[in-house]
Amino acid sequence: MAIATDWRAAATLTGITDEAALAGLCAALLPSATVVSARERALLAAISSQPVATTAIDRTISAIQQGTDPLGECLLALRPAAQRRADGAVYTPATILAPMIAWLRTQGKPVRVVDPGAGSGRFILAAGAAFDNAQLIAVETDPLAALVLRTNLHLRGMTTRSQVLVDDYRRIKLPKIAGMTAFVGNPPYVRHHHIGARWKRWYTRNFKTLGIHASAMAGLHLHFFLKTALLASANDVGTFVTSAEWLDVNYGAALRKLLTQHLGVVGLHVLAPAVEGFSGTATTTAISCFRGAAPQTSVRVRAVNSLTELAALDSGAVVLPAQLDAATRWSSVIYPVQARDSDTVPLGELFRVLRGQVTGANRVWVFGDDRPSLPDSVLIPTITRAQDLIRVADRLESTASLRRVVDLAPDLDCYVGDEREQIDAYLTWARRHRADQGYIARHRRAWWSVGLREPAPILCTYMARRAPQFTLNVGEARHINVAHGLYPRQPMSERQLAAIVEWLNRNVEVGSGRTYAWGLIKFEPKEVQQLRIPAHLASG
Ligand SMILES: C[S@@+](CC[C@H](N)C(=O)[O-])C[C@H]1O[C@@H](n2cnc3c(N)ncnc32)[C@H](O)[C@@H]1O
Repeated sequence: MAIATDWRAAATLTGITDEAALAGLCAALLPSATVVSARERALLAAISSQPVATTAIDRTISAIQQGTDPLGECLLALRPAAQRRADGAVYTPATILAPMIAWLRTQGKPVRVVDPGAGSGRFILAAGAAFDNAQLIAVETDPLAALVLRTNLHLRGMTTRSQVLVDDYRRIKLPKIAGMTAFVGNPPYVRHHHIGARWKRWYTRNFKTLGIHASAMAGLHLHFFLKTALLASANDVGTFVTSAEWLDVNYGAALRKLLTQHLGVVGLHVLAPAVEGFSGTATTTAISCFRGAAPQTSVRVRAVNSLTELAALDSGAVVLPAQLDAATRWSSVIYPVQARDSDTVPLGELFRVLRGQVTGANRVWVFGDDRPSLPDSVLIPTITRAQDLIRVADRLESTASLRRVVDLAPDLDCYVGDEREQIDAYLTWARRHRADQGYIARHRRAWWSVGLREPAPILCTYMARRAPQFTLNVGEARHINVAHGLYPRQPMSERQLAAIVEWLNRNVEVGSGRTYAWGLIKFEPKEVQQLRIPAHLASG
């Protein structure tokens, strides 16, 4: 069966308005003898005894049998965004999934397919259709997703050869088998702040056994790669889609080594920042293909400029694993280096570029009218959204329309009288909202002290998929981590700063087309410092 191209069209079929009703529909679609996990059983025990309408059942069966995912779409629509984010639950569109399955087909016939973080089962179902006799193993922690997945497997006739493990992928064991196992999927993107200390230790310890030093700042998707390397043997293949930030950031170094030295990376395909792989998410997308659990002789790397180009996952420029090993950032290997004009200087020679402060809890530290009042002296007009800069473009004259950030000194004894009373009342409110509990709050000098930097003369945005906005900060706004600040190393006149801003806005673009010294995946301050500007702008 062809992979459906529009999962969404079918979403309206079920008319289901809450999660219990969705579980009820799954129960109505599954044979009564279906064996489920204890956590799925608990969900089924809570469903209403109201019979599900026959029309809903018939339409859902027909949509699933045509290859769409009405139950998965329904689950996503019912789940609050915050919970989906915490679970890393973003389901994969067919435009990305189909090329990955097509690539697997070119790699031989797996006897077993493993889909870690299977969600509603899009990958395992597509793999089941591609490989008639393969044993199918789907691993998923969310019991409702697991029920949906079981229902999909049942209606697509794959139950007898499949196993749904409602468990943490890092905990599973796989029996050794003769023949190839294929790993395929979209590992959950959950940032390290939400990963417990025990799993962080698991991560660094297991990397150590492979001879690789790993930073515990890695997100859950990197844990999935590690687990896959621990499970995979020399015959195995795999392809994962993830966000692309690990190609460049420090904590990605361990995964980069894992891919070249242990997972046998053969392909890396990175969607150009302007291409939206997953609608509504702000990240850049990378697809990694690996085979053989051992170093390969060459790797295909490619910047992909449109979703239709993605199809050919065996194409790309050929590089040696040693070239990847030698690169500190892989985006520099994937994006061709631009010829450098000798009459230019790196921005870093003129400016220090500093990321804005992380507040740790914008809902508490970005002030709003619904909060206990505070003295104006601690409410600092601040750039809190990229839009604040995009709206004013080249020049920020006034801070009047900006939101204000609560910026308290670490030593509260410097506040006295009414001022101190207001601040104490605010902190009691902040504590009630757990602002003292977060990772950032616990790791800074005083949990209440955001510590905004001095106003930067130039500010810039660094969102994926659009050119950065550089803005002359005449109004002296502060900035949080939605922007970077450019601080001149030597005094500069406003005229000189304005000329630099104007030039940067005209010449710096994202993407691999007319990229000028950019084309990077993650616009870290370091990358901004490497931008080159005409030398005459440096001399004022
Ligand atoms: C990015 S979604 C991908 C879903 C599906 N594979 C797809 O591509 O449509 C990741 C899934 O992993 C699940 N998940 C999160 N943490 C997990 C863990 N530790 N072990 C197994 N699954 C997990 C989430 O519930 C979510 O369904």
